[in-house]
Amino acid sequence: MSQASTVLPKRPRPFQRLSSEDATQEALSTRSPTVVVPPKHLMAPSDAHEVATAMELARHELEEFSSPMSSPETPPVTNVTDKYAFAFDIDGVLIRGGRPIPEAIEAMKVLNGKNAYGIKVPYIFVTNGGGKTERERCIQLSKQLGIEASPGQFICGHTPMREMAAKYQTVLVVGGEGEKCRQVAEGYGFKDVVTPGDIIKDNPDTTPFRKLTADEEKNSRALNFGRVKIEAIFVFADSRDWAGDQQIILDLLMSKGGYLGTRSETFNEGPPVFFSHNDVMWSASHDLARLGMGALRLSLEAMYKAVTGMELNTTAFGKPQMGTFQFATRLLQQWRRDTHGIDAPPETVYFVGDTPESDIRGTNEFNKQSENKWYSILVRTGVYQEGTKPKFAPKATVDNALDAVLHGMERETKKMFKKALNLPSAKLAGAAIEKASNENMPTVSSKANEATNSLA
Ligand code: G3P
Ligand code: MG
Repeated sequence: MSQASTVLPKRPRPFQRLSSEDATQEALSTRSPTVVVPPKHLMAPSDAHEVATAMELARHELEEFSSPMSSPETPPVTNVTDKYAFAFDIDGVLIRGGRPIPEAIEAMKVLNGKNAYGIKVPYIFVTNGGGKTERERCIQLSKQLGIEASPGQFICGHTPMREMAAKYQTVLVVGGEGEKCRQVAEGYGFKDVVTPGDIIKDNPDTTPFRKLTADEEKNSRALNFGRVKIEAIFVFADSRDWAGDQQIILDLLMSKGGYLGTRSETFNEGPPVFFSHNDVMWSASHDLARLGMGALRLSLEAMYKAVTGMELNTTAFGKPQMGTFQFATRLLQQWRRDTHGIDAPPETVYFVGDTPESDIRGTNEFNKQSENKWYSILVRTGVYQEGTKPKFAPKATVDNALDAVLHGMERETKKMFKKALNLPSAKLAGAAIEKASNENMPTVSSKANEATNSLA
């Protein structure tokens, strides 16, 4: 039995709570850890506490029962499980085309204590999406799902790129709405951030069929790009102008050392290109998946090959890259410590995703190298279409985020029963739970249904 579960958690750091209605980025950039909450949550503590205490007590007693070793003075319980946690993809799991998926709202309520055991389960968000600061995405998600959300539990596709700010001085940032991606990059510490708009403003002939709007003309910076050395290109979010952006990236790739208006004889003296993810398809408001940043990457590589005859090597961040899952592990550790004073890593992280090529592949591969278990759950509300064979096999496939949460909680309860009753298999534990439920002992399935019904 891991000691972690009986160690009295350190007093978590005090959090400031901001209403999602009037939370601003500035307010979110204060030093103390911040949580964005729906207005109605601002004053009210969640009502799961009492139930939570009882349930934790039961769990500890069960553990006491199963391991006589643990000392009689077990510390007081918390209502947060330290055994497992969840990590959620966003597009196609919680949100579709900017609108919340109804079951996702319920799933969050279950994780925040509205469940048979009244326990809270820590969770983080790991999206390949981006184009806004983590803080802005937090305010947005808090409003969409009616939950408390904090930048401390949020990873965008470009979040790990902040570690490159020290390496590159002048960088081109591509994608997203208006000036948003420049703000994100400057927020990460990149000193000198230029955009395609700045380049077109300097030389409108760069993109024959693309003229800047009045707004873009106003917001774009006047620079003489003949003298500006662009050291790296970062595609932070989905491009809103595939033709113009690819023209400008190609100009730089074929340039002499990153100076626009120059041409290299060898076509390999240009700056490196980094994509914040490699999703060829993603789940938006259309019924069928849409082309994503990974498709732009393929198109750029094909054009470079067509024009120069050479292969183009670019780097992608985001899921399924192991770097993003290592980043998620550190973020989850910090989040559980900050919010619940839990130090030890969870035994299991349930990763809920809709895209086999990024969510499931990444989780399965990370599970092979990670200290703890990463358990992949595929939902049917996004890219993955029922009846097709996912390229990377998940541990479980369920209809939606709510079913994913109940699946994980049921599995953990079976594990707990199996351990507590020293049963040789989860199957027997399931039978024990069943038996208990027939004897009207509260169990997951009946209570879970009750929980879901009570959520209606
Ligand atoms: O542009 C983002 C999209 O490709 C996928 O986002 O949240 O499903 O990882 P997400
Ligand atoms: Mg997704």
